[in-house]
Parts: sequence; C-alpha cells; structure tokens
Amino acid sequence: PVIHVLNGPNLNLLGTREPEIYGHDTLADVQALCERTADQDGGATVVFRQSNHEGKLIDWIHQARTEASALVINPAGYGHTSVALLDALKALTIPIVECHLSNPAARERFRHRSYVSPVARGVIAGFGPQSYELAVKAALTLVRVADK
Ligand code: DQA
Repeated sequence: PVIHVLNGPNLNLLGTREPEIYGHDTLADVQALCERTADQDGGATVVFRQSNHEGKLIDWIHQARTEASALVINPAGYGHTSVALLDALKALTIPIVECHLSNPAARERFRHRSYVSPVARGVIAGFGPQSYELAVKAALTLVRVADK
C-alpha cells in the first residue's frame, strides 16, 4: 500500500520553530520515522509532502484520491480555518487520519476547532513525532481491514 503523508504550513520549520511546543526533530526526521514505520509494518510506501500553500495541499489531496490507499494529514494552521481543505478531503473515499504534534485541545481556544476532524477516521495528537508513527500505523491498519 501507498500512504500519503501531507503536512501544512510552517511545518518546514520544524526543529527550530517554537521547539518548546514542537520539539527539536526536523521534518526530515519525521519523514524518516514515517518511512521506517511503514517499512517495518509490512513494507508500505510513504509519500511525504509539505507545503505552505493551501492550493498545493488541495492539489495533493486530489492526487491522493487515485494514488494513495490512505491519507495522513497534519493540516497545521489550515486545519482550524480551511473549508476548502475540508471540501477536498470530502472527495476522498480512502481513510483519512488527522495528525498533530501538539495536542490542540490543550492549547488556545482557536485551535479547538478542526475542519478536518469531521472527515477523519480518527485523530492522533499530542505525542510529538510519535503522533506520525501512530498515524501511519493506524492508516495501515485501516487499509488492511478494508482489504479483507
Ligand atoms: C499543529 C497544531 C496546529 O494548531 C498548529 O497551527 C500547527 C501545528 C501540530 O502539529 O501540533 O501548525 O498542527
């Protein structure tokens, strides 16, 4: 199976951006963790992408419709604001797993709303980079269950 992992705005700065919240690992470290996880979990392929641009993320969501077995998405700030991202995700039939490094529910009020959660099969948040590991594992489990 192929798992697409999409990352929203500012996540390219991971490791240097508010490290007291997001930690010191870089996005490249997170990508390596996802690839290792998928490899150990039955040899799945990870396509890992990041953009600061809403339209780019939407184009990639459209691509996932035909190219991915499941989608893991950390929408970052757009998760709290983007109806367009929600609409794009609604066009998918593959399982969607929402993923966050921090736990938005434990932070400012404006982070409590997610436009992605209603279309996600589940949300993994608050475990730092390990959120991605758990999200990839969850996505692969959902793919396997669907294949049975
Ligand atoms: C985030 C949480 C969001 O509230 C924030 O806007 C981000 C990162 C996380 O991974 O913890 O950019 O999605």
